[in-house]
Amino acid sequence: MNKASLSRLRLAHLPTPIEPLPRLSAMLGVELSIKRDDQTGLALGGNKVRKLEFLLAEAQTLGAQTLITTGAAQSNHCRQTAGAAAKQGFACILVLAGHPPSQTTGNVLLDNLLGAEIVWSGDREVGQVFQETFKQAQQDGRQPYMVPYGGSSPVGAAAYAAAIGELMEQDVPVDRIAFASSSGGTQAGMVVGARMHAFPGRITGISVDKPAASLCETVATLANETASLLGEDLNLAPSQIEVKDAYLGGGYGVVGNLERNAIHLWASQEGLLLDPVYTGRAAGGLMDMIQKGEIDSGERVLFWHTGGTPSLFAYTDQLR
Ligand SMILES: Cc1ncc(COP(=O)(O)O)c(C=O)c1O
Repeated sequence: MNKASLSRLRLAHLPTPIEPLPRLSAMLGVELSIKRDDQTGLALGGNKVRKLEFLLAEAQTLGAQTLITTGAAQSNHCRQTAGAAAKQGFACILVLAGHPPSQTTGNVLLDNLLGAEIVWSGDREVGQVFQETFKQAQQDGRQPYMVPYGGSSPVGAAAYAAAIGELMEQDVPVDRIAFASSSGGTQAGMVVGARMHAFPGRITGISVDKPAASLCETVATLANETASLLGEDLNLAPSQIEVKDAYLGGGYGVVGNLERNAIHLWASQEGLLLDPVYTGRAAGGLMDMIQKGEIDSGERVLFWHTGGTPSLFAYTDQLR
């Protein structure tokens, strides 16, 4: 398969803008800018909209009628999948981890508004419930298409290879891209795109939930698979992937001082809204790396905002 044969729908507002962050730059002593993938447009945006452009094209080709995916209760990926399904006329089933929250807010509110059917895993293992729900949808003749966890298959990751092409066309000099990394698709796609489009800078994933060794392994494997899907020969080893895992804090979705301070600072200094789970942690980590001298002063750092802001509303008590 080559580049030309990978089909794509148009769901996102692209290119997303790049904005300088003058006050934070002065405060931190680096040249900081931001790429606004929180503004990809569909159903409050985020990084998954890019991936869904490729994944839904595949679903259409396969004749699917129903999209089914899974995630945490406040999954941004699930909300964006529900938005894409609504826009393209698919039914959507979301298998969410745990029990329904006492208040329907943040992404769960939006999942409902977007017309998704939600299956809660309760006390059961969410992956098991997901498999059963998928099989049931098949038996019911609903022609389900399984959107991979986090949209992170080679087809989904290909979107971030294209996003690096978009960045190169924007012609903003960048020494390093920093962003929140979790299921690895965003980072894998960026790494492939960097090779394809001769991006000269570093790509630093700030892990929100996984130890560096395992995330590097995941990203390298996915990057190699994505490259071969795109007709590129890439043979990356995990040691060539850059992941920082010093900011896992209390675990996935647990807001600590790092996230809280970053969210307050970026909002009050630049009018930017981060999220409590991903971008707040990544921005907090990035600032810590700068303050510790792990990132050189004067470096041109692009913080790639991957979205997630709707979940702010599910964390009101922890953000005051
Ligand atoms: C806001 C936000 N940022 C970053 C990520 C991580 O992206 P990836 O799963 O491609 O590593 C996610 C994934 O859910 C997300 O919702």
